[in-house]
Amino acid sequence: MTPVKEVANLSALIRKYNRLYYSENRSEITDTEYDALMNRLLYLEREYPDLLLPDSPTARVGSAPLAGFSSIVHDPPMLSLSNVFSIEDFRTFHTRVVSELNSEMVEYSAEPKLDGVSLSLVYENSMLVAAGTRGNGVLGEDVTANARTIRSVPLRLNTDKAVNVEIRGEVFINLNDFREMNSGREEAGEALFANPRNATSGSLRQLDSSVTATRPLSFIAYACGLHPEGIRTQQGLFEKLLQWGFLVNPHNSLCQSPEQVVAAYDNLTQIRSDLAMEIDGMVVKLNCFSEREEMGFLSRAPRWATAWKFHAEEMATVLTGIEVQVGRTGRLTPVARLEPVLVGGVTVTNATLHNQDEVTRKDVRVGDTVLVRRAGDVIPEVVTSLPAEVGNRGEAFRMPDECPVCSGPVVQPEAEVNLYCINPSCPARLRRNLEHWASRKALDIDGLGKQLCGQLVDAGMVNSIADLYSLNYHDLTALERMGELKATKLFAALAKSRNSSLSRFLTGLGIPGVGEVASRDMALEFADLETLGDASEEELLAVKGIGPVTALSIRRFFTNPITSKVIQQLVSAGFHPVEKDTTRGSYLSGETIVFTGTLVMPRQKAKELAMKAGAKVTGTITGKTTILVAGENSGSKLKKAEKLGVRVVRETDFMDLINR
Ligand code: IVH
Repeated sequence: MTPVKEVANLSALIRKYNRLYYSENRSEITDTEYDALMNRLLYLEREYPDLLLPDSPTARVGSAPLAGFSSIVHDPPMLSLSNVFSIEDFRTFHTRVVSELNSEMVEYSAEPKLDGVSLSLVYENSMLVAAGTRGNGVLGEDVTANARTIRSVPLRLNTDKAVNVEIRGEVFINLNDFREMNSGREEAGEALFANPRNATSGSLRQLDSSVTATRPLSFIAYACGLHPEGIRTQQGLFEKLLQWGFLVNPHNSLCQSPEQVVAAYDNLTQIRSDLAMEIDGMVVKLNCFSEREEMGFLSRAPRWATAWKFHAEEMATVLTGIEVQVGRTGRLTPVARLEPVLVGGVTVTNATLHNQDEVTRKDVRVGDTVLVRRAGDVIPEVVTSLPAEVGNRGEAFRMPDECPVCSGPVVQPEAEVNLYCINPSCPARLRRNLEHWASRKALDIDGLGKQLCGQLVDAGMVNSIADLYSLNYHDLTALERMGELKATKLFAALAKSRNSSLSRFLTGLGIPGVGEVASRDMALEFADLETLGDASEEELLAVKGIGPVTALSIRRFFTNPITSKVIQQLVSAGFHPVEKDTTRGSYLSGETIVFTGTLVMPRQKAKELAMKAGAKVTGTITGKTTILVAGENSGSKLKKAEKLGVRVVRETDFMDLINR
């Protein structure tokens, strides 16, 4: 037999056994026989590289490691979903749909909301050519090599036609597989995954796809990029997806009335605990694609769908202790130490008790059995203490009257339930301050993680954020786990942070009550640090979104001797932060934008977004136009823009500008 023929035969055989195994759950050959076929095919493909086709079943084995992921552009963008949490919320959603479509007769597709990682699969001529994670919705990571190793991802669509389509769905790990995988890791002394979702994300984002190949990932399809021709409904799409060889969730249901949607939700909450995988709600989508078009989109989510989330799961466990933590602002928070318990798929060992009032109200005591709740990504909390046997309880908890970290005084501001450590050089506060300064949303300093912040404070090398900029190389390299390379990189990152925008700088200062949004608003208003520092309360109050409490807090921060000294030191260290238009945030001030062609989102919406971001929107291209956003079928305006040298961007790029 010629190698060509043998490769073809082997591939066909393996495909057949795969299909039997994964679709029909049966096998006609033993694992050893299967491996023998696979190994022979691998051997032939290595000997005759020309015979290695992109859809070869051996792709499932994984390929050589990558140096890093490149980006993949999602066009149209991968959106997220709005949420509803109750029947009333869902009714409101439905009422809006009815009034907008001017019809009571709407059909919905109700689908379990898989708690995994969304993935986009691009097929050209029916072959899988690319796969990307959602990323920021517009730009994702190219995980093609990894996606190829997932057995329920068809490498080739099951059709005779040359189909070009983008399929979207969820990658996940079944609960049983997850448990098995973690116990294997435990035996091997490897770090455990916190939950199936983390494990999925970690597995999908492996640089070495042969590692991904060993992970029990599955893929369920539920959407497509642009609608394939001839498909008009979600139900039609599901049929097509099945034909093409995708897995579709068997619990999806077509609902002809809002009552049926409610029934579907009730049913899902019933069967939830019996499902093989984790779900965190139910996605409700208009079934009919033309109706979806009528409803359109909001900035990041469609108006034709919503996620009806489940209520947080609660579990009972034993409270083994209460520890008091000190945060960045000095606030003291009692934290419950718990007997580890699995809540909604995550092992919980700590939960917040908020403050003294809450502990008293719930009468939580060490040794009690307590109920713990986790809602989405929110920090777990102790809901209540279950009535314990009489006479056998620990003592009632009382907050300390001094800071548990620095033993400094604590105060309780008027009208507040919280206690605060007011020592500005309290190591706990300092450490959190450094972490905050270095965080992504603030100065984004690579290499300055939580651990290093702790080390710097413990070693007494840093007494304020400004001290970071007078660190010396010798002291730094003397720290544990700090090699020369790491130190050099850290210095480069610190140097780079000096050029950060004013909004990042302000966020990093951690002025009480001033987060990212207020920082940006102020930065846009005052342009440089000096002007802002001199601004009166009245001037601050004039900034949109800044109320009297925040204005006072900002004034205090700039006039307080300690904090103002830190700002002075930062300036001496080379900080002269100003606001540049494009540094970050959703603003396009100074730009004059024209839209042309067919856009995915309604034109009006696009205009609104642009204006909200500070751009001027006009209808005709002139010498003043700075950006043309060109949709599908852009005609004369595109030509004119090109002639005038106006920057032309696609809708996806525009979304990216807006969402930066
Ligand atoms: S539809 C615009 N269908 O939920 C349409 N999403 O919050 C958005 N998800 O990122 C996607 N199950 O990862 C859709 N049956 C389902 C889903 C689903 C899970 C996830 C998906 C998405 C997120 C939206």
